[in-house]
Amino acid sequence: MIQKVVPIALHRRAQQAATPLPLRGPLAAPGGVLLDGHQRRLHDLRISVTDRCNFRCVYCMPKEIFDKDYQFAPHSAILSFEEITRLARLFVEQGVEKIRLTGGEPLLRKNIERLIEMLAALRRPDGGSLDLTLTTNGSLLKRRAQSLKNAGLSRVTVSLDAIDDGVFRRMNDAEFPVADVLEGIDEAQRVGLGPVKVNMVVRRGLNDGEVVPMARHFRGSGQILRFIEYMDVGSSNGWRMDDVVPSAEVIARLGQFFALEPLESNYAGEVAQRWRYTDGAGELGVISSVTQAFCGTCTRARLATEGSLYTCLFASHGTDFRAPLRTGASDAQLAGLIAAVWGRRDDRYSALRGANTLPRAKIEMSYIGG
Ligand code: GTP
Ligand code: 5AD
Ligand code: SF4
Ligand code: SF4
Repeated sequence: MIQKVVPIALHRRAQQAATPLPLRGPLAAPGGVLLDGHQRRLHDLRISVTDRCNFRCVYCMPKEIFDKDYQFAPHSAILSFEEITRLARLFVEQGVEKIRLTGGEPLLRKNIERLIEMLAALRRPDGGSLDLTLTTNGSLLKRRAQSLKNAGLSRVTVSLDAIDDGVFRRMNDAEFPVADVLEGIDEAQRVGLGPVKVNMVVRRGLNDGEVVPMARHFRGSGQILRFIEYMDVGSSNGWRMDDVVPSAEVIARLGQFFALEPLESNYAGEVAQRWRYTDGAGELGVISSVTQAFCGTCTRARLATEGSLYTCLFASHGTDFRAPLRTGASDAQLAGLIAAVWGRRDDRYSALRGANTLPRAKIEMSYIGG
C-alpha cells in the first residue's frame, strides 16, 4: 500500500497528543523487573537527545519536509541533562540494563559528553554494568571519539548507507563525503569504542547496489556491518513494500560472493540475526524488521527529545514525563508512572503490519530515535 506523504511538522502534533497519566499506579519493587501485557521485560531505554540532524537522508528527513521552515523542538522544550539522568536512574532501578543515545544526530547536542558522564555514573541494582551506547551518522565522530570514550561511553553504532561516495551523498542529501565517516569509524575503533557496528538501511533502487561493496569493505575489519530492512516508520518517507529488500535476498546476494553461515544470537531478543564468513573474516548481521518482525521479544522503551515516553517505534501517542518532572513529582511517583506505562503496553506494530490497513499518523524516526 502506498503511504500518504504528510508534509507537515507531524511530530509536533504527536507531541501535543501525548497523554498525561495520573500520578498514581503500581510502584515497582526496587530492583524489580517490569513485564508488559505480553510478558516482555523492560530492558533497553533509547533516549533521543535532539530531533535535529546535519544530514537529510532521503528515507528519514526528506528535504522537502525538513526544510528551513521546519519547526524543531525549541531548547526550553527539550529535557535537560539533569532531567534525562533522573529518569534514566529510575529506569535503571527498574531493570533497564542498556541505554542508547539517539537523535536526530546525538553529537549535535551541545556537550553530550557531560550527559554521558552522568549516565555512566548510574549503578544497576544487581551490580552489573550498564551498556551505554550511541547511534550516530559518524559525521562528527573523528573529532569526538576520544572524548566520548573518556566520558564513559561503552561503544558506538554508526549509520552508513553506502561506500560509494556518490551514492552516499545522494542518500544523506547534504553533500557529506563518505571518507569522513569511514575515518570516524576507524577512530572510534582505535579509541576502544568497538567493535563498531555499522547500520545500513537498504532501499531498493537507491542503494541496494551497495550491499556487496559494503560487505567487501567491512569484512575483515573487525567492524560489524548490519543490513536493515527499510521500514514504514514515520509518515514522511513515502514508504512502499516494493522498496524493501528482504534480508533473505540480501543474504542470497552476498552468498554469491562469500561463504556464510548463521551464528547464534548473543542474547535473547537481539534484533540482528548474525552470520559469519566461513573464511574467518568476521561477522555481519541482518535486521528483518519487516519480513520477520521481532515484536515478541521487544524490550525497548523510547524517550523522545521533549520528554514523552513511547513503547513502540511506530507509536502515535506517548506519555508525557516532562510535565511531572517540572511540577515536582517525586521519584516514587515517576517510577510508578514508568511501571504503569510498561504494564499496560500492548504494542506489536510490525507483527501486525499486514493487518494495519488504515493509514495513521506515526512519529518521525528522527524525533523518536532509531
Ligand atoms: P546492539 O545492542 O548493538 O545489538 O543494538 P541493537 O541490535 O539494539 O540495534 P540498533 O539499536 O543499532 O538498531 C538497529 C536498527 O534496528 C534500528 O535503526 C532500527 O532500524 C531497527 N530496530 C531497532 N529496534 C527496533 C524495534 O524495536 N523495532 C523495530 N521495528 N525496529 C527496530
Ligand atoms: N527504516 C529502517 N531504518 C531506519 N533508520 C532511519 N529510518 C529508517 C527506516 N525508515 C535508521 C537509520 C539509523 C537509525 C537511527 O535508524 O539508518 O541506523
Ligand atoms: Fe539523520 Fe540518521 Fe535520519 Fe539520516 S537516518 S537524517 S543521519 S537521523
Ligand atoms: Fe517493538 Fe514496536 Fe518494533 Fe514491534 S514494531 S519490535 S513492538 S518497537
